[in-house]
Amino acid sequence: MAIQVKEGKETLFTIQTKHTTYQMKTDAYGVLQHLWYGATIKGDMSYLLDYPDVGFSGNIYEAGNQRTYSLNTLPQEYACEGVGDYRISAVAVTHADGSNALDLRYQSYTIKKGKYAIQGLPAVYAAEKEAETLEIVLKDTASSVQVTLRYGVLPELDVLTRCVSISNLGDTTVQLTKAASLCLDVPYGKWEWMHFYGRHAMERIPERMPLLHGIQESSSTRGTSSHHQNPSVLLCSPDCTETSGSCIGAVFLYSGSFQTKIEYDQMRQTRLIMGLHPDLFRWELKPQETFDTPEVLFSYSENGMETLSHRFHKAIREHVCRGKYQLAERPILINNWEATYFDFNEEKILHIAQEAARLGVDMLVLDDGWFGKREDDNSGLGDWFVNEKKLKGGLDSLVSKIKALGMKFGIWFEPEMVSEDSDLYRCHPNWAIEIPGRKPMRGRYQLLLDMTNPDVQEYLYERISDILSSTDISYVKWDMNRSISDWYTALLPAERLGEMPHRYVLGIYALLERLTSAFPNVLFEGCSGGGGRFDAGMLYYCPQIWCSDDTDAYERTIIQYGTSFFYPTSTVGSHVSVVPNHQTGRITPMKSRAVTAMAGSFGYELDLNLLSEAEKEAVQQQIQQFKQYGSLIHNGKYYRLSNPMESNYAVWEFVSEDQKEVLVQGMIFRTEANMVRYCVPLRGLDKNCIYRLKDGTSYSGSALMKGGILLPKSWGDYYPVSLYFVGE
Ligand code: GLA
Repeated sequence: MAIQVKEGKETLFTIQTKHTTYQMKTDAYGVLQHLWYGATIKGDMSYLLDYPDVGFSGNIYEAGNQRTYSLNTLPQEYACEGVGDYRISAVAVTHADGSNALDLRYQSYTIKKGKYAIQGLPAVYAAEKEAETLEIVLKDTASSVQVTLRYGVLPELDVLTRCVSISNLGDTTVQLTKAASLCLDVPYGKWEWMHFYGRHAMERIPERMPLLHGIQESSSTRGTSSHHQNPSVLLCSPDCTETSGSCIGAVFLYSGSFQTKIEYDQMRQTRLIMGLHPDLFRWELKPQETFDTPEVLFSYSENGMETLSHRFHKAIREHVCRGKYQLAERPILINNWEATYFDFNEEKILHIAQEAARLGVDMLVLDDGWFGKREDDNSGLGDWFVNEKKLKGGLDSLVSKIKALGMKFGIWFEPEMVSEDSDLYRCHPNWAIEIPGRKPMRGRYQLLLDMTNPDVQEYLYERISDILSSTDISYVKWDMNRSISDWYTALLPAERLGEMPHRYVLGIYALLERLTSAFPNVLFEGCSGGGGRFDAGMLYYCPQIWCSDDTDAYERTIIQYGTSFFYPTSTVGSHVSVVPNHQTGRITPMKSRAVTAMAGSFGYELDLNLLSEAEKEAVQQQIQQFKQYGSLIHNGKYYRLSNPMESNYAVWEFVSEDQKEVLVQGMIFRTEANMVRYCVPLRGLDKNCIYRLKDGTSYSGSALMKGGILLPKSWGDYYPVSLYFVGE
């Protein structure tokens, strides 16, 4: 049993995974205190609780004259607002009388086999024997608000999940104003934190900082998880490296606005809160209603960030991603976006497809511009009908010709959007998100559809399924190209408008669930101007996401480095494009572009006809290589061998589960005259195994791990590295 409960006057809850322990205890007043999350321990950790008499830290009434009992100093399992814990809180309500205090005390618990699911929301799933669920029920001392804390435990994977259900068991309506999914008090230890910030075409740049006294935050209020800060966070000990030191990581399985807050308090205690962004969240709980928060997946490692990443990679790949392509080999695709932008017709697309097929590409993806009136990004969104001016014989004619080349066919949609210049908008202007009497903010000239509206969902389901059933389509790129503002829907009364941002996300999830169930053979790839919605919520529906609109191989090493802390390689859509690169003007060698794109779900985004014969041959070899290495890249363990923001090279490594196959790839950024070669120790090998390169040179695993390998002597900038070892 991973979940152990010692009942008594005070009830002790202990969750054991293979290498970690999570512990909490109810105290004499029924307050659920957090005791421990870290390396495996035995026994009751409450001996570590201190009860200092700290001025201006009030005491609960029942504590009488015991000035040392304060909610403001004790570690709380789910911190409430309004009753004297002045640190950041996880939950807040407004009662019918306008007061907003919530004082949660222990009621009961249940243990269940298997992992809980959450209606309408993505959640980690597992076979019944792989997981356990703990539910702890807390209730407010004065109202009928009840909170159920849910813990999902996957002991073998060393990961936990948390989510919360908040119920109104009373007979008056309650307003929920904050409902975080994770509240984690870490009473001891010095910590740093790491988050992943960025912008369009430069996402998930890792930034590690000391924790300062007070509150630090990483969040999005854009209605999507955003390019700007990712819903993932790390707490790490100052000595934490890839291979040593303590760290706690958490990702939010959610694709809308979120907030991660960390407070380092007066007692040198750390509190981490992660969940829905309270600025964009209100929920009316009528009598007998329950609100379910989305889920957080988290883990602890005492052996550095690499171990933590491996756990997240496995958990996300095997217990979040779903469907036919979850573990299957992904088709190598060619996307026409950077090759043609909006300027294409059937002939041009076929011309691209013919050469791609000849060189071994599996699938052609027709990007933006195939529908409605869409000559540029000013019009047409919402009109998901084939543009027969561009595609004269219709979609089916193009698809049959592509299939005749031996290729699969994929197509782009941006379902949540509408252009003002579209038949859809002309017909249903009230389906767009606009505040009456106010001009809406436009992003890329476009407006958003009200995804909370069932009619909008129905229209999109019909249009998309009609296209997907009209011919043989194997892939959908689901794009989303602006941030959301002007929250308004006539479907909610004014006092409930605060529910709209979350209802919007629920609307997308409902539509994705319907479509992915109706078309189980279609591979869905997520996208939002590249990686603007690269989150574990989206990965529940789309096993890969276009990682960034930045296809520059050098910058991609940084973006993919940041992405790798939580998200597995198989989820990272990554393509070879032309040089000079369309986003940066940088020129990088073809081989370097290929090794970078191979650290993902591989493809091309250019017109292969325009390459030289030598480059075309290189493409053929790359495709063969990806066919050979793809399973190692997607199923193997991923190692960050360098930090590309701090060194002159980016090198990463994939090691197969049986440690018999090793692929080291990357690039050396700048070459200097008389340059000394770099020596990089490998990781994760079998120290007793002999590893052989293609040219016959062999090394022992211990030598490669202790002594390292010399990177090739580079020539020119962005020089590629690709070393494939087979263990004997
Ligand atoms: C976004 C995507 C691109 C491309 C364009 C099309 O920017 O990230 O890959 O699909 O939209 O408009």
